[in-house]
Amino acid sequence: MRRLLFSVSGLAIFMGVLAVNALPPGTDSEISERLRPAGIVNRAVVSNAAATAIVAAPLSGGEVYDQYCSVCHAAGVGGAPLFADVGVWAPRIAKGMDVLMDSTINGINAMPAKGTCMSCSDDELADAVTYMIDAAQ
Ligand code: HEC
Repeated sequence: MRRLLFSVSGLAIFMGVLAVNALPPGTDSEISERLRPAGIVNRAVVSNAAATAIVAAPLSGGEVYDQYCSVCHAAGVGGAPLFADVGVWAPRIAKGMDVLMDSTINGINAMPAKGTCMSCSDDELADAVTYMIDAAQ
């Protein structure tokens, strides 16, 4: 009797393993994802890459500074306040961010409008000004 029970339960386990193996692995959505035609998936990937290339990621404050502002501010060209010079920057910082942004966007004396980064957004310029201010604290 015990042997019969044992072999019945063994058979049940065996059938269970067979049934599980017969199912493809993964959830329903993973399975349907795998079954999607490869062409559709590829087109989605290509168009995402193209969109990323067209809408360039914004530059960080440090990147804007390095590419545009450092030309003058690294060496003090034309009286530009020297990068990271705390004493030179203190009276400028005291004017407040609004005034500094107005000078940056519109230019001031020998400082050209937008610090020559005509493609920069106001946000990118603000990040660059913040980067310069942080370096001069
Ligand atoms: C062609 C040289 C030049 C470039 C490029 C340049 N600057 Fe300037 N910048 C100056 C000069 C000169 C001054 C000082 C103007 C003055 O007060 O007479 C100045 C001043 C500033 C000030 C202080 C403004 C104020 O109101 O006191 C800020 C902020 C500033 N620059 C930010 C930037 C940023 C940000 C960039 C890059 C996006 C940049 N500059 C690029 C020459 C430059």
